[in-house]
Amino acid sequence: MPVKVSKICCIGAGYVGGPTCAVIALKCPHITVTIVDLNQSRVDAWNSPDFALPIYEPGLVDVVRQARGRNLFFSTDVDKGIEEADLIFVSVNTPTKKSGVGAGFAADLNYVELATRRIATVANSSKIVVEKSTVPCRTAESMRTILEANSKPNCRFDILSNPEFLAEGTAITDLFKPDRVLIGSLETREGVEACQSLAEVYANWVPQDRILTVGLWSSELSKLAANAMLAQRISSINALSAICEATGANIDEVAHAIGYDSRIGPKFLKASVGFGGSCFQKDILNLVYLSESLHLPEVAAYWRQVVEMNEYQKRRFSKRVVDTLFNTITGKRIAVLGFAFKADTGDTRESAAITLIKDFQSERAFVNIYDPQVEEEQIWNDLSEASPLIPIESIKKQVTICHSAIEACKNAEAVVIATEWKEFLEIDWEEVYKGMNKPAFVFDGRLLVDAEKLTKIGFKVTTIGRPSAVAA
Ligand SMILES: NC(=O)c1ccc[n+]([C@@H]2O[C@H](COP(=O)([O-])OP(=O)(O)OC[C@H]3O[C@@H](n4cnc5c(N)ncnc54)[C@H](O)[C@@H]3O)[C@@H](O)[C@H]2O)c1
Repeated sequence: MPVKVSKICCIGAGYVGGPTCAVIALKCPHITVTIVDLNQSRVDAWNSPDFALPIYEPGLVDVVRQARGRNLFFSTDVDKGIEEADLIFVSVNTPTKKSGVGAGFAADLNYVELATRRIATVANSSKIVVEKSTVPCRTAESMRTILEANSKPNCRFDILSNPEFLAEGTAITDLFKPDRVLIGSLETREGVEACQSLAEVYANWVPQDRILTVGLWSSELSKLAANAMLAQRISSINALSAICEATGANIDEVAHAIGYDSRIGPKFLKASVGFGGSCFQKDILNLVYLSESLHLPEVAAYWRQVVEMNEYQKRRFSKRVVDTLFNTITGKRIAVLGFAFKADTGDTRESAAITLIKDFQSERAFVNIYDPQVEEEQIWNDLSEASPLIPIESIKKQVTICHSAIEACKNAEAVVIATEWKEFLEIDWEEVYKGMNKPAFVFDGRLLVDAEKLTKIGFKVTTIGRPSAVAA
C-alpha cells in the first residue's frame, strides 16, 4: 500500500525548496512541512516576524503568512527534520563545478551527496527520498547506492525524481497552477507505490491529468531538456536580433509574425541582452558534459552553441554601447537600470547586467546602478566575484549604487536597460532627459520602452533587434 504522507521535510530553503514546500503546506493543511537549511541567516529570514523573507517572489509572503506556524516550519535542525519525515525533498544547490573533472560543465553534486549521506545516517525509519534539485541523468542511482550502503536495518528508501519547473518571478502562480508535475520512479512495485504517495500530495490541488509519471531517468533528463529547449529559443531569437540590427528588420515584428505559427507559438520569443539565472546555462553545460561523456560530440557541440550565442549577445550589446557613444566611454557615466537577471526577482545569478557592467568598467566608464529589489551587498559581491583581481575599493570608485532610476540617470551620458522591471515603464523620461548630459542615449536591452516616444523627447534610442537610431 502506498504510504500516506503526513510529514514532509525539505532539505534546502532556497529559491526552489522555500516556495515549493511553502505552497505544499498551504495546499495540504493536514501535512506538516519542515524546511531545513544549514544557512542560519537564511532560516532566520524565513522566520522573521515582519516576513522579510530571504527571496523576493510575488505572492510568496502571503503564502508564508498563511501557513507558517500552522503546518509550515523553517529550521536549521536538519537531523530532526529528516528523522520525523516520511517524505524528504532534496532541494539543495547543484552549481556548475569550478574545479576538477568536468570543471566548467558538470554539475557539482557534492551538496546532493552530503544531504543524501545525512539522510542515511540519521533516518531510523523508512523514507521516500525525492530528488527535487536539477541533477544529471542517473543521479538517483548514486543516491540509492549511498542510502542503501549506509542505512540501518529495517529502513528502506524509495527514490523519486520530481524536478521543479517553476520560473523565478512567477514561482507562486507556477506552483499554484503548474503546466505539469513530473514524477519519475523505478518500475518496481515499491517505486510505483512511492510515486503514488507523492502524486497524492500534489493531487490536493493539481488536476490528475497534469501529474505525469515516468521512469526515473526520463524524469531527470526531462528537466535538463526543458531548460535546454527554453534557452535555445532565446538564443535563436537573439541570433535573429543580430540580423535585424544589420538589415533594418524589427525583431518584435519578426517574433510576432513567427509566433502566429501554431507550431512555434508566441511565448519565449522576446529578444534581449541575453538570458541569465542560475539554471539555463548550468543545465545546458550539464547536458553538454553528459553528451561528451556519452561520446556524442556533435550533440555536445549543438547545445554548447546555445550558451555561446548568449555570451555573444551580451558582448555584442556592450560593444554597441561603446560604438554608439562615439567609440569611447572612458570617463563617461552610464546608468544601468536593473541588476536582477529578470524582473520580479531579486536573484542575480548569471545576470546579464553583471557582464555589461564589467565591460563598462574595463572601458573605464563610471557606472550608476539601480535595481528595485537587489540588495546593495549582493551587487558588491557579484561585481567583486566578476573581477576578482580588482580590489573592491577600486570598484567602488567606478560604480555607484543608487536608490531610484532618476538618481541613477542624473548626469549620465547613457541609460542601459538591463532588466525588464515594469517600474521602468513608469519613469518620468522627460525628467530623466533634463538631468542627463547631451546627447542623451538610451540602450534598451529588453525591448521595454517606447522608442518613438523617447526619441520625441530628444533621446537617441538604441533598441536590441532594431537598427541604431544614430545610424538610421
Ligand atoms: N532557482 C530556480 O529557478 C530553479 C528552478 C528549478 C530547479 N532549480 C534547481 O533546484 C535546486 C536548488 O536551486 P535553488 O535556486 O533553490 O538553490 P539555492 O542556492 O537558492 O538553495 C539551495 C539551499 O540548499 C542549502 N543546502 C545545501 N546543502 C545543504 C545541506 N546538506 N543541508 C541543508 N541545506 C543545504 C543551501 O544553504 C541553500 O540555502 C538546484 O538544483 C537548481 O538547479 C532551480
